[in-house]
Amino acid sequence: MDTEVAIIGGGPSGLLLSQLLNRAGVATVVLERASRAHVLSRIRAGVLEAGTMALLQEAGVAERMMREGHPHAGCYLTDDDLMVRINFEELTGKSVMVYGQTEVTADLYAAQEAMGATVIHGVQDVVIDGADTPAPAVEYTLNGERKRLTCAYVAGCDGFHGVSRKTIPAAKRQEFERVYPFGWLGVLSRTRPAHEELIYASSGHGFALASMRNENLSRYYVQVPLTDKVEAWSDQRFWDKLRACLPGDVAAAMETGPSIEKSIAPLRSFVSEPLRWGRLFLVGDAAHIVPPTGAKGLNLAASDVFYLYQALISAVKSGDTAGIDGYSARALTRIWKAMRFSWQMTTMLHQFDGEDSFAGQMRKATLKHLSQSETARRDLAENYIGLPY
Ligand code: FAD
Ligand code: DHB
Repeated sequence: MDTEVAIIGGGPSGLLLSQLLNRAGVATVVLERASRAHVLSRIRAGVLEAGTMALLQEAGVAERMMREGHPHAGCYLTDDDLMVRINFEELTGKSVMVYGQTEVTADLYAAQEAMGATVIHGVQDVVIDGADTPAPAVEYTLNGERKRLTCAYVAGCDGFHGVSRKTIPAAKRQEFERVYPFGWLGVLSRTRPAHEELIYASSGHGFALASMRNENLSRYYVQVPLTDKVEAWSDQRFWDKLRACLPGDVAAAMETGPSIEKSIAPLRSFVSEPLRWGRLFLVGDAAHIVPPTGAKGLNLAASDVFYLYQALISAVKSGDTAGIDGYSARALTRIWKAMRFSWQMTTMLHQFDGEDSFAGQMRKATLKHLSQSETARRDLAENYIGLPY
């Protein structure tokens, strides 16, 4: 056998799984289609739950996050000028960390390199062979040459568009999906953040999110129709839209400047069940997608890794398969709860095209209720900081 666990995809889930397995003495090979520079150029998640932080610590990759990350004890939900603070620390005793996915991934690459782990970039035409047999293998093309990697287990960490999920026969899995009729236009700019905490803004002009990476780097999103193209959004148009969505005081004081990244992401909720077929396990976005409104995608990928890495160590080291047998059900319980929260946050904060006049009133009443009920705020805080593993 060439390796114990073949990992398809070198995004955050694949790298974190590889790191945790390598540290426990389980051999892995990570096969990534893109170059390292390309993976690191994708600006995505910004908020880490306490559980994700703990797992990064366990993996030995938390040092820079603890030094350079920004702990956040709360966030705001706003409805025009009504600002509701959700005080995570007071309501749950926990906080979250603002530290970009790009940085997490860079730290994981550095740690894997320091450990001498095998991460192969530029692989093409990956095919998983015999996942439902005792001797699976992964075939791929590298520099024009076809290769075959034999292994005991395959981890499908290759995101929503990867090959792993599609390898499971349609008759053996079930998909659940909701596609939202809008996307998020995201902008990164070297400007002072609009506020020291994140603002999730509902407004008569649609949804916006004011986030950040550090004191001089802001990350903003506004809701846009799915048909919009990035080219149609000049910086000026973006800032005007964002200002219209944010509370008046915040908008008036907001610093603007040239964008350094601008992209549109569609919003969807998606789950494929189960997460296992024979010796193949799905992890992270390969198995599920949440709309980004609750900051759950990367954090769910991390909890999948948490459940799977211990299970794989037991299976590889002592032949104990109880963990891998229970992986799918265990992970899915948490996944569905995060699905519910992300769907609820999305519905609560976005304008839906063609909605009736009742919908806007329901959003307003929900925000008003949050502003007046500690019970409602605690429920939101408990979900936002991350449900227990
Ligand atoms: P991916 O990051 O998609 O990694 C998969 C990897 O597999 C990629 O590197 C890809 O190149 C590789 N690959 C694909 N196909 C193949 C193949 N056939 N062969 C080999 N390699 C392959 N989540 C949060 O928790 N908090 C947030 O604040 C947040 N904000 C977000 C904002 C935006 C705009 C977006 C788009 C997402 C956000 N997310 C957030 C979600 C988060 O980014 C994802 O959930 C996370 O990237 C999932 O990691 P992954 O490793 O499972 O998948
Ligand atoms: C960010 C993205 C999110 O989806 C979110 O809910 C919070 C923060 C970000 O990119 O900073």
